[in-house]
Parts: sequence; C-alpha cells; structure tokens
Amino acid sequence: MPVAIITGASKGLGRAFAAALAGRGWDLVVDARSAGPLADAARELRAAGQGAGRGAAPRVVALPGDVTDAGHRAALVAAARELGGLDLLVNNASALGAEPLVRLADHPLTGLRTALEVNVVAPLGLVQEALPLLRTSSYLSSYEEVTPVTEDALFEAGDGKGEAYDSHPDIENARNAGLSDSPLYAGKGGGILTISSDAAVEAYPTWGGYGAAKAALDQQSAVLAVEEPGLRVWWVDPGDMRTDLYAAAVPDDDPSGRPLPGTVVPALLRLLDGALPSGRYTAASLSEAPGGVSSR
Ligand SMILES: NC(=O)c1ccc[n+]([C@@H]2O[C@H](COP(=O)([O-])OP(=O)(O)OC[C@H]3O[C@@H](n4cnc5c(N)ncnc54)[C@H](OP(=O)(O)O)[C@@H]3O)[C@@H](O)[C@H]2O)c1
Repeated sequence: MPVAIITGASKGLGRAFAAALAGRGWDLVVDARSAGPLADAARELRAAGQGAGRGAAPRVVALPGDVTDAGHRAALVAAARELGGLDLLVNNASALGAEPLVRLADHPLTGLRTALEVNVVAPLGLVQEALPLLRTSSYLSSYEEVTPVTEDALFEAGDGKGEAYDSHPDIENARNAGLSDSPLYAGKGGGILTISSDAAVEAYPTWGGYGAAKAALDQQSAVLAVEEPGLRVWWVDPGDMRTDLYAAAVPDDDPSGRPLPGTVVPALLRLLDGALPSGRYTAASLSEAPGGVSSR
C-alpha cells in the first residue's frame, strides 16, 4: 500500500484528506501537537480505511509533535520508512503568526518568525528528511521514463521557443502545452503536496505576515519542483474553509458561509489521480477542470 505523511492531521483539511487516503487503503503517518485530538483522528482514520472495505485496516502511525522540531520530523520519516517507504508528503500544518490577524504596522515580529518557522522552514526540513524515500517511490510512475534534464531544457519547456518555465501551469492546457509530455514532469517518484493560500498572492489587509510566509513557501516549492523533476511537487491554494485556523484568523467573520474542508479533498485527490504536473494550483481550478474527479 502507498504511504503518506500528513502534517496537521488532527482536524481541518489535514484530517479530511487523511480520511480520504485511508479510505483508499493508504498507510499513514500523521501528526499534530495535541496528542488527544490526534489519537481520536487516528482511530477515525483506521475506521475509515476498514469501512471502505479494502481488506485490512490501513496502518496509521500517529506521532504527536511540532513540525518545527527536527527530531520530530526525523521521527515522522522514520515511521514512514518502517511502513515500507514514502509516496506522498503533505505539508499542511500552519501558523498564522498573529491570532487574530493584525495589520503589518502592529504585527508582532515574534509572530512573524513563528509563521516563517512553521510555514517555510519546517516544510523544507521535512522535505530534506523525506527526499531519499520520495525519490525511490514508484507511485507516480505513470508518465514516460525520465530523460536527463539540462539547464537549457528547463527554460525551453513549453513550446520549445525558450519561454520561461511556467510554475503555474493551467491544468486545462498543460497537456496541450506539452508540459506533461516534457521530460521535466516525467518519471518515477513520489509527490510533495504543500498547502498554500490565496494570501500568498493577494494583498489582503491583516494577512501580511501569514501571506508573506505562504509566498515564501510557494517560491520554495517552485524551486523544488525544478530541482526535483522526478517528483511531483504541488502547492495548492485550498480556498477559504470553515476551520479553527480560519476562525482564529478572523474571529468576527461569520464562517457559516465558508465550505467545510472535506469539500476541498476531491480537488487534492485529482492531483494524485491525474499525476498532474508539478506546479501551483487552486482547489477551485482543479474542481472546474474538465474530466471530473476519477477514483483510483
Ligand atoms: N481554513 C482556511 O480558510 C484556509 C485557507 C487557505 C489556506 N489554508 C491552509 O490550509 C491548511 C490547513 O489549515 P486548516 O484550516 O485545516 O487548519 P486547522 O483546522 O486549524 O488544522 C491545523 C492542523 O495543524 C496542526 N498544527 C498546527 N501547528 C502545528 C505544528 N507546529 N506542528 C504540527 N501540527 C500543527 C493542528 O493541530 P495542533 O494545533 O494540535 O498542533 C491541526 O491538526 C494550512 O496550511 C492553512 O494555512 C487554510
């Protein structure tokens, strides 16, 4: 069975996505700082896997800890290794940096450091720890064999006329543009799914600290995608969701109109099912793309 590490899986989007993977028979390594809710989530994940009728319940290893702790990150990857390897790393845990959010003029610098530590430094630390296993995964091997990638080829991807590498592929046109046929995206390896935000690219008042951290995470992911052409590296804006993080960010906002995190899951699964090219996506664009969400 394929194996995923999902950070921040005790609630919200991380938990909903973990439940979907468990239902497909994936073995999981999950974390969160609070041990009680994480243990509850792990029980639910095992039940979700068993209830899906795929035979044995998925193996779910729940390790309470903070993603900013290097020892904890090493333990997450070691647990995946024990399960047989690693096919997907989901960097989902996040910090706002200020709760509620405040304007930059008043933003605590310690909070900004925390946001950067949790949203940027920790995901890279986990990627570094996980890369050896992800590179040996054969889960996303549905494309052609990898051919050597040169610096020149990198900037000629697309129509071959020397256009810059597009780290924001339009999924409807990706195949037509030749991106998915390019050796850059072909190969055999695992995936890295990083949860971003529209705050990474839009200038909303009070979202500056968190948004700056997510923007750095986006760029880090874009470079990683170029440096690791054998892997799929996806960074995704899920859109607003009715979660504790959202409530902490804007407590005065009525969240009842926001979608629940489970509604975003089919869009994330589409990345896996289509082995889509590395790049930045929004859940909305993935949901609207032709072809619907297939199951695997
Ligand atoms: N909700 C939205 O509207 C929205 C919009 C755009 C993007 N996002 C992004 O979506 C992702 C999921 O957010 P969510 O809304 O689902 O949040 P959530 O419901 O508050 O869940 C966050 C999860 O991360 C864990 N976590 C937080 N800090 C952690 C740390 N340092 N180490 C380990 N685990 C940690 C939490 O558990 P503990 O507290 O016990 O650690 C929890 O399991 C985040 O990357 C967020 O930035 C959310």
